This record gives sequence, C-alpha cells and structure tokens, in this order.
Amino acid sequence: MSSTLLRTAPALRAAMRAGASRPATFATTSFVRTKATLPDLSYDFGALEPYISAEIMELHYSKHHQTYVNGLNSALATIAEAESKGDFTKAASQAPLINFHGGGHLNHTLFWENLAPASREGGGEPAGGLKSAINEDFGSVDTLRKQMNTALAGIQGSGWAWLVKDKATGTLSIVTRANQDPVTGNLAPLLGIDAWEHAYYLQYQNRKAEYFDAIWNVVNWKTVAKRFEN
Ligand SMILES: [Fe+2]
Repeated sequence: MSSTLLRTAPALRAAMRAGASRPATFATTSFVRTKATLPDLSYDFGALEPYISAEIMELHYSKHHQTYVNGLNSALATIAEAESKGDFTKAASQAPLINFHGGGHLNHTLFWENLAPASREGGGEPAGGLKSAINEDFGSVDTLRKQMNTALAGIQGSGWAWLVKDKATGTLSIVTRANQDPVTGNLAPLLGIDAWEHAYYLQYQNRKAEYFDAIWNVVNWKTVAKRFEN
C-alpha cells in the first residue's frame, strides 16, 4: 500500500480497494466555474412594438446586456486568479466591477422577464393576491403606475425604479437604484423599469416620460405575480 493511499480517508481507501470509481465527494478539491450568459428572450426584438422598438431591443439585449455579462465574467476571472495567488487586495479591487456588471446582468435578466408583448401577456392589470396587495399598499394599480413613473422621472442620470416586496413584512413599495446597483437584502425585486437612456433614447429621445407611460403596455403582470408569491 502506498504512502499516498495510507493518508487517504477510510471511505476512499475502501472504495479504491473494491475497485470502485472514486466517490464523487472525493472527486476533486477544485470546482468548475459557471460563466454568466445572456438569458434567452421569450419574444422577438420587434414583439414589444410600438411601445419599445425592435432597434432598441436588439441593441439593448445584444450589446448592452452582453457587455454586462462580459464584464461580470472578466471580474470573476480576475478574482479567481487573484485568489489563487493569495492576492486578496486585487480580488477586493474587483468589488465595484462585480456590483456594476453583476448588477447590470441581474437587472436586465429580471427586466426582460417582466416584459411581454401586448398581444400576449403584456399590459392589462394584475390579478389575485398581487392586485390585492397593490390596492392595500398603494390604493390602486393606477396610483402605483403614477408613483413609479414619478420615481423614474426623478432619477438623475442612469438608474432603475423597482416595485419591491419587503421579505419580512410582505409590504410593497417603490425604490430607485442608481446605475446598475441591484436590489438586495430584505427587498425582493418584483418589477423593474430601466431608466437608462439606452432603454429609450433611439425611439423617444428627450421624451422619456412617454417611454415611462408606454412601457406599462408591455408589463408582464404574471411574472410580477410569480415573484410576489415566492
Ligand atoms: Fe438597460
């Protein structure tokens, strides 16, 4: 018996004696990193027209979101390399990039899912428990829309407005986030609206209030309700 085997855990030694393949729990001390990728869209680029143009959708998804995916993967790779060298200063220096690109990836993934063509699930009114909660916390769906649009209009520079649920109390509220800061902690994001210029400028130019009004025609309330029920 080799000295290597003598140092091996008893369960593994037994498996090796029996000629069994290496048990999975002993298989490796490293792990396979999963790279972030663009999520599949459940509708075509032109499917949200006339509210969001195909040109915006294609650029927004294929270029902007892809950039966040690439940036996140790059920062994660830098951290992994720095960690392997024990360079934790370099690893820590990636934190702002993880927040920006990781947040950008998460925010846009949630955004595509909480939109749908008006000819399908998009628009209309929420139903069931979500509708009751909105009525309780905002008075009406219309008031929620108005408050969300006011929050969106008040964002200086780039950012997002979110309908969120307090995980502890279940209470709904509206929050804004600058740049790509994700909604985290005790708040669960239910519905996000992108207020970056890249989300509307090609179609609406400086008339961003029109974009904020129009996007409600393609809000997928079923997705929002699913997040609310979770
Ligand atoms: Fe965006």
